[in-house]
Amino acid sequence: MILVTGLLFASILLAACGEGSPSILNPAGPVARDESGVFYIILIIATIVFVGVEGMLIYSVIRYRERPGSPNPRQIHGNTTIEIIWTVVPAVILFVVLIFTIQGLFSVAAQPAGKTVEVEAVGHQWWWEFYYPEYKITTADTLHVPVNTVVHVTLYSNNVIHSFWVPELTGKTDVIPGHNNDKWFKADKTGTFLGICAEYCGTQHANMKFDVAVDNNDSFQTWVSAQQQVATQPTSGSLAQQGQKIFQEQCQSCHGIVGVDMKSYQDPKVSCDSPTAACLVGPNLTHFGSRGFIAGGVLTNNANQCQPGPDIVQRCNLAKWLNDPQGIKPGNDMAIGQLTTDQINQLVAYLEGLK
Ligand code: CUA
Repeated sequence: MILVTGLLFASILLAACGEGSPSILNPAGPVARDESGVFYIILIIATIVFVGVEGMLIYSVIRYRERPGSPNPRQIHGNTTIEIIWTVVPAVILFVVLIFTIQGLFSVAAQPAGKTVEVEAVGHQWWWEFYYPEYKITTADTLHVPVNTVVHVTLYSNNVIHSFWVPELTGKTDVIPGHNNDKWFKADKTGTFLGICAEYCGTQHANMKFDVAVDNNDSFQTWVSAQQQVATQPTSGSLAQQGQKIFQEQCQSCHGIVGVDMKSYQDPKVSCDSPTAACLVGPNLTHFGSRGFIAGGVLTNNANQCQPGPDIVQRCNLAKWLNDPQGIKPGNDMAIGQLTTDQINQLVAYLEGLK
């Protein structure tokens, strides 16, 4: 039994070490650090209890096992002292755990004063949209934030319940239609941290991922300024210009591009009461070429493989997606008809050019 327990314990610890699987035990900010602190306190207390109880059990099994000729053990019909001890001791232990837990809850809830970046995160089926009310920009799949800055996130859904979770930065918070939760977090180092939807929300729940890109302050401001620009117009007669025409014919009923079918990120193309910019069905594509992911983190946006050519569907992930979105992510809302290779080349040239 000890061996099995040990193996289970080791596998849980090792499970957190895999490349690309973020761990709450590897915190990169104050919220996650408080949360992992509570975990460690409970782990230490639970380990002491486990070793003590199992130790006494194993000792009793061996020491008092039946042997040939051993007499019947003394028959006991209750012991008030022992019963009081085994009631009071666990109660005290649970009370200690409660104190640390409540302390952790208050610590995580208290948003520090000072400069804050506001973000509205919208859970779609199945991708994340991020709107920055202060900067009036929208993006998808990657949440850019500056380092050492409090980020206040308000969570919206107009479909089902999702859960916003960035294990290395902050714990889970449900994203509930009609009930707008909010939370804060702060990253104290630059880098990229994986975010996950942590509440089952339909067949592609597992493919509802996002990245938190923690930039230094200068590169965050540069990113914001770039996102605030309207889309560049493709040169006349180019492949990209033909792609823009396809976008206008087939894509803009669900997607938006500022400078093409939208005047600004807040241009309400569709009438709705969402707090975010535009109530589009699909992601706003204004600066698609600058993004790292496609379709809720299912594919990377490998623009360096997207030169035009008859084999573009074999190498370029955006082309793969445009060619067969339902094959790659069954059940998603992308309902484009089958495109020819020429049309895919044109659309890819256009969208990847939107830096
Ligand atoms: Cu969204 Cu699970």
